[in-house]
Amino acid sequence: MSQLLIGGGRSLQGEVAIQGAKNSVLPILAATILTRSRVELRGCPRLRDVDASVRILETLGCRAGWDGDSLTVDTAGLNGWTISDILMREMRSSAIFLGAILARCGQAELSYPGGCELGPRPIDLHLAGLRELGAEIDDAGGILHCTAAHMAGSEIVLSLPSVGATENLMLAACGAEGTTVISNAAREPEIVNLQNFLNACGGKVSGAGGSTVVVEGGRTLHGGVYTVMPDRIAAATYLCAAASAGGEIFLRGAREQHLSTVTAALREAGCDIRSDAAGIVLSCRGQLKAIRPVRTAPYPGFPTDAQAVLMAALLRHRGATVFEENIFENRYRHVDELTRMGAEIRVMGRVAVVTGVETLRGASVRCTDLRGGAALCVAALAAQGETKVSAIDHIDRGYQDLAGDLRALGADIVRTEE
Ligand code: EPZ
Repeated sequence: MSQLLIGGGRSLQGEVAIQGAKNSVLPILAATILTRSRVELRGCPRLRDVDASVRILETLGCRAGWDGDSLTVDTAGLNGWTISDILMREMRSSAIFLGAILARCGQAELSYPGGCELGPRPIDLHLAGLRELGAEIDDAGGILHCTAAHMAGSEIVLSLPSVGATENLMLAACGAEGTTVISNAAREPEIVNLQNFLNACGGKVSGAGGSTVVVEGGRTLHGGVYTVMPDRIAAATYLCAAASAGGEIFLRGAREQHLSTVTAALREAGCDIRSDAAGIVLSCRGQLKAIRPVRTAPYPGFPTDAQAVLMAALLRHRGATVFEENIFENRYRHVDELTRMGAEIRVMGRVAVVTGVETLRGASVRCTDLRGGAALCVAALAAQGETKVSAIDHIDRGYQDLAGDLRALGADIVRTEE
């Protein structure tokens, strides 16, 4: 198994280009099913979750291939509508394929996506919305048997702004006759990107970024070339790494407007952050300060995906900072591992209180999930001595080359085989 060896105590300097966004390219890969032709995705990140999505598309009869950082998918030959349990378990966000398969094939069969390290990952909102569009879904025995001989546009109100449900229903609505209105939709930048992709392929979607998305269905979509947006959570991770280790970094391609709640927290903690169309510069010297409570919320609130890495950046700050995780039930699993490094964190349900300590010690720690794993690396940069991070397959799900990027910024980090 691979692991990362990180020598702490070095500040970060330099520039890194931000990878394409995992949470944008995954729904777009599902959307390629609707185009029935070739789509070239430029700046596509090489991630385990992207590989899993490609395997799903190939299982369905599609073709895919890489050329540098461009992934080209051809879905003309799609001849199946079943996603195996094994593939569903590889990546719980595989549920995002359901709406597109139903829109293309009129039927779909897949197993319930399992929960994950973050807790149960229900898809009740996805299924309720698909039923409102006219799908019949039998969820007996953990297998979803879905048929949708004819889907008709509908007014759908989401009980909570679910990212995945909004994306799934946008794709299904492309295959429904007439207009679909999705209210209380998620407002994440990745939703806007999905809208832009669908419209670039001949679709007619509007309102993304706001709480009401409108989809004109029944249109024929075509392929084309599309550039994947930069990954705002990868950018947040590297900002927190520099806040943790000190120094000055430039994140080429990062867009501050997509992570303004993260940069606001880092500025409050004492970092100097400047940004323009080219990217974001963060410089940080000396001890960070305690900040107002960090409450995760749907966009444009503080992103749950940045909770762990910001916590890691604050482990040696002056005073104490309160975190409140309001999106997932079990998103403090990195706390025990950070405690092994000398961190002082108390968890009480959804609340975690981080009290700054003088020093962190390098230790052997284990990734518990994708962003929790990244947080261990952020903390290790500021620890005395060497930290060994294992189970880094979690990190590989969402970061193209976390070790390479941090090394390019001057970190003492190598990937080795255990
Ligand atoms: C997306 O997950 C992201 N994943 C997550 O990123 C991100 O943390 C999350 O949105 C919130 O921003 C991808 O885009 C691939 P949700 P998703 O549906 O769509 C509940 C990462 O680290 N819910 O907005 O699964 C759900 O249990 C990953 O990159 C229902 O109850 O998130 C959760 O508590 C982790 N019923 C909350 O809503 C449903 O039908 C938010 O989930 C759907 C969701």
